[in-house]
Amino acid sequence: DAADKGAYPYYMLKEIDEQPAVMRRIVGQYFDQAGNPQVDEAILDALAKADHLYIIGAGTSYHAGLVGARMIEKYAHIPTTVHISSEFAYDHPMLSEHPFFLFLSQSGETADSRQVLVEVNENHWPSLTMTNVDKSTLSREATYTMLLHAGPEIAVASTKAYTAQIAVEAVLAKALGQFLKHPEADEFDLRSQLGMVANGMQAITDSKDDIEEIASRFLSKTRNAFYIGRAIDWSVSIEAALKLKEISYVQAEGFASGELKHGTIALIEDGTPVIGIITQDKTAGLTRSNLEETVARGANAITIVSRHLAQETDTIIIPDVDDNLTPLLSVVPAQLLAYYTSLGKGYDVDKPRNLAKSVTVM
Ligand code: G6P
Repeated sequence: DAADKGAYPYYMLKEIDEQPAVMRRIVGQYFDQAGNPQVDEAILDALAKADHLYIIGAGTSYHAGLVGARMIEKYAHIPTTVHISSEFAYDHPMLSEHPFFLFLSQSGETADSRQVLVEVNENHWPSLTMTNVDKSTLSREATYTMLLHAGPEIAVASTKAYTAQIAVEAVLAKALGQFLKHPEADEFDLRSQLGMVANGMQAITDSKDDIEEIASRFLSKTRNAFYIGRAIDWSVSIEAALKLKEISYVQAEGFASGELKHGTIALIEDGTPVIGIITQDKTAGLTRSNLEETVARGANAITIVSRHLAQETDTIIIPDVDDNLTPLLSVVPAQLLAYYTSLGKGYDVDKPRNLAKSVTVM
């Protein structure tokens, strides 16, 4: 059955490896032969009437929202903000006149997110749930659903659901942009880009031995670690740090690299691992110099860098893809670093202490 571990020692590794196939499945599900995205017109119609999109999620799903929001704004020109569900439920910003709510939830059962949906429904606001589980609570109770088609995700630490959420958000951004007749959405060749993403993910998962070596050299004995990046690379940094925290119990944080000097750099000691995510032309030089500042204070720098920006001293080079889709690749080495750090310490990778796959209490 699809949820069988097969020859894999842990579901997490299997699920990391499944990501290229998930990308291809999403292409198969959401594009026609001509390369046009296929999204229910009722969803596009409702979104076209909205003046603000509120993305709601918890944990990794919240992080996927941070990445997707950029594409919705870029291609559909709808102001979009991303919110932690347990915060939004008690402390939300002033809402726009015609809000639309996008719920991101792998399980479709997270109580914190559902609490927001209850309020949304009481106010008769339109909503869409992107979820991996058909007929889950958040799917049934939202106005619309788009499925992630990632297949069952068993490991507590979410991997393929994160990348599937970003890919499906990209589909929505392109489809909505085209529906609203924004020319840049036409030019966004998402179908072929997702094909390149799938190949790129494959190349990264094929180089597991190198990543295992980096994990054992730099992360296996540390108590803390930092991921840094700017803009979209910062969004991935937060997710990358969460992976490390969840399963290897390393105290890890993702920081906006420009903020380091405003406080965090005080934490850098001899041997502190600082992992820089560098995928964007605009910010590559800045993140590199922030990384050097940490090295000058004793940090061990590790880099995850897009090929066209790579330098000889870089640690992990990832293939080039569209600027908005780089998280689909830059997160994969981070997933593997977390996996091998946890494995090396002898922890139960799939069932970390204190955590549940689906949190149905608030
Ligand atoms: C739990 C899981 C996380 C997940 C979060 C949100 O805390 O351990 O991996 O990201 O819930 O779950 P959802 O199913 O709503 O995406």
